[in-house]
Amino acid sequence: MIKLAPSILSADFSKLGDEVRRVVDAGADYIHIDVMDGTFVPNITIGSPVVKSLRKTTKATFDVHLMVEHPETQVKAFAEAGADIITFHVEAAKHPHRLIQEINEAGCKAGIAIDPGTSLAMIEELVQDVDMVLIMTVNPGFGGQEFIPSTLDKIHMLSHEIHDLGYDCDIEVDGGINPETAALVTSAGANVLVAGSAIYGADDAKAAIDAIRAAEQPHVCHDHHHEE
Ligand code: DX5
Ligand code: ZN
Repeated sequence: MIKLAPSILSADFSKLGDEVRRVVDAGADYIHIDVMDGTFVPNITIGSPVVKSLRKTTKATFDVHLMVEHPETQVKAFAEAGADIITFHVEAAKHPHRLIQEINEAGCKAGIAIDPGTSLAMIEELVQDVDMVLIMTVNPGFGGQEFIPSTLDKIHMLSHEIHDLGYDCDIEVDGGINPETAALVTSAGANVLVAGSAIYGADDAKAAIDAIRAAEQPHVCHDHHHEE
């Protein structure tokens, strides 16, 4: 069973509490919170004080996606604000292994994210220590972009690696996810799906969530990805 994580980036920020409740009631598994600093990516979104306020409105799992430079400076604040999972970009971290430890010590699950242009080789030594790998399926920074198909190979390879080596690690995908691309990423091996515009852009959030769930495909194994 996949997990669905609506991204509040596409929500109405003037009534964020209601917007979170709306997708939780519609069956969301996680609330995906996009934190942007205006440097790692062009936009600035929200910081830990907003997460702290939202924490009072729901018990849902907060999946915090840090798109920031110097992510090590943010862990404590987001953990105290009520984050459950903290994911940072390997492209932004000087000492990613230490940062994973710090996230865990702060009481959160740790995730590591890679851009479409970043190779899995960059996180090879880290996969065994994280709870989740986030394979970006668009370039980070904006909602509503088009899914990048070349990311499917990475999802596939990572999924085999996790399976073959027996790691306990989720594969999250983020960007351009709708029922059509949900079928592709789940057959490649992703099991946590972020969706912003496809859920918040729909009139009926529950129908949108149900449509993405219904698109789930069994993992299809392509032999050429097996290294045996
Ligand atoms: C992009 C963010 C995403 C974004 C996805 O940088 O990380 O979480 O909200 O939006 P959609 O689903 O519209 O592509
Ligand atoms: Zn995100």
